Amino acid sequence: MAIIERVFSGVQPTGNLHLGNYLGALVNFVKLQATHNCIYCVVDLHAITVPVSVWGGPDELRRNTREVTAAFIASGIDPKKQIIFNQSQVAEHAELAWVFNCVARLGWLNRMTQFKEKAGKDRENASIGLYDYPVLMASDILVYRATHVPVGEDQKQHLELARDIAQKFNNDFSESIAAHSKSSEGFFPLPEPVITGPATRVMSLRDGTKKMSKSDPSDYSRINLTDDADAIAQKIRKAKTDPEPLPSEEKGLETRAEADNLVGIYAALADKPKSEILSEFGGAQFSGFKSNLVDLAVAKLSPIAAEMKRLTADAAYVDSVLADGAARARAVASETMSAVKDIVGFIHRK
Ligand code: TRP
Repeated sequence: MAIIERVFSGVQPTGNLHLGNYLGALVNFVKLQATHNCIYCVVDLHAITVPVSVWGGPDELRRNTREVTAAFIASGIDPKKQIIFNQSQVAEHAELAWVFNCVARLGWLNRMTQFKEKAGKDRENASIGLYDYPVLMASDILVYRATHVPVGEDQKQHLELARDIAQKFNNDFSESIAAHSKSSEGFFPLPEPVITGPATRVMSLRDGTKKMSKSDPSDYSRINLTDDADAIAQKIRKAKTDPEPLPSEEKGLETRAEADNLVGIYAALADKPKSEILSEFGGAQFSGFKSNLVDLAVAKLSPIAAEMKRLTADAAYVDSVLADGAARARAVASETMSAVKDIVGFIHRK
């Protein structure tokens, strides 16, 4: 099986999708369609690694899964050309994860910083699934032998683990792989992160040093993907700034977190470098800049909000997109899994 370039990424169905998710992930997912075959997955198996009180239970999970799917489509991912599906519909993710559990080492997982953060002090009470999260993530990617993974900075360590697992599998079973594929190439590619565009890190509108987050108690801290034009305008007008006019060069933003964030958001929405935005607005007061930002944000985001509203009201259509995507994903995943069974030595029906 030759290695072909393929993009895979996953988004957790945790609800309250916001501008940070859009500019940090979705915009890049949309762009990658022009050059790659892309598989975009709503990772519901990952969602249940935290306590049920946190992920919200079955109705909430269904709602959030459909909301992320709607956001994919509303942002411009074409569900006919690419694959959009939810993870639990393709059993091979969990099946390959078991094999990878036997390849990955305890020491590797013990180094994962996200587990330490999420488990907090009460580690004895964290689920085994939370500990194993990065192994399932490796299996998400490698079951499609994906080569490129658009992710944020915070997922880089997990991607390194995926490479380590791929490498160790290729080494542990090198003879069997050679016999199976009659080539000396490793079976799994080593997937690379695609680190993303200008405003990867969108910060809170109330505090430019904190990431925009779905769990911030203040709704004014974030622009939700479902916010209508009035809400978007209000939140931008109320966004924290400082009394100085905008600088005309990027280094003038270094100690001004809120100004930096708003310029970054403008640049990302306009798909232009920050320097270009500053050469236009340098010396201007925030009030004028904010009016322009409101116009731009409303023009870009309110059609997405409207489309999401339409799609989330049509669960039957959204579910049909997921079912169709899952069938196409399964066709690829089952091929990998069948080869893995041969390579490991599991007898199976062909
Ligand atoms: N861990 C990722 C996140 O929280 C989500 C994810 C799950 C993922 N599986 C993946 C991302 C595979 C990329 C590839 O953002």
